Amino acid sequence: MATNITWHEGLSRAERNTYRKQRGMTIWFTGLSASGKSTIATALEQHLLHLGFAAYRLDGDNVRFGLNKDLGFSERDRNENIRRIAEVAKLFADSSTIALTSFISPYRKDRQTARELHAAPSPAHPDDEPLPFIEVFVDIPVEEAEKRDPKGLYKKAREGKIPEFTGISAPYEEPENAEIRIETVKTSVEDAVKQIVTYLEERGLLK
Ligand code: PPS
Repeated sequence: MATNITWHEGLSRAERNTYRKQRGMTIWFTGLSASGKSTIATALEQHLLHLGFAAYRLDGDNVRFGLNKDLGFSERDRNENIRRIAEVAKLFADSSTIALTSFISPYRKDRQTARELHAAPSPAHPDDEPLPFIEVFVDIPVEEAEKRDPKGLYKKAREGKIPEFTGISAPYEEPENAEIRIETVKTSVEDAVKQIVTYLEERGLLK
């Protein structure tokens, strides 16, 4: 941690939300590779934009081309990947944007840290409401994800060509208390979007 740094006071979250006429939040998708997280997150982003909300999706593969291009897939690198994404998502949410993140995020501890980061009070505005953090478990049996294998990665992992591949040679720790669980084998993309939007509407988060 750097020393001699001071937190600058700025607008409060409440003020920003008033100008932007919407509430910022993070919708955190987690699930195996090929579970459908990016497909659902993209459809939801489009739906929210269509309704007039500012929404932006951060995606595993894409972020690893830029911000996180120095990171691989060891446990430590994944921890750092998720830590950075959580910080970035929080900035988006704090700007009254709906941040959608689609990362495998296989470790419970990392997802919990992301959640706590969103709940932490702002140093300059401790009375601001915490940023909503909605965890969406995109649930698929590993055998099904392996059958889909759109990028041929499971095949390569089975052949030993990709080390530490999630679900094959690296762990995926399923969420125990996700706000939303989507079983992608039984649910269409359209229904998945409806399920999430209904959840947000019922809690008064989309206004
Ligand atoms: S993580 O675990 O959250 O840090 O991973 P993430 O940043 O979401 O990146 C996952 C995408 O990287 C590709 N890929 C791998 N996934 C899992 N394990 C290994 N070893 C691996 N190597 C490359 C893969 O395309 C993942 O994309 P999705 O969209 O999940 O299929």
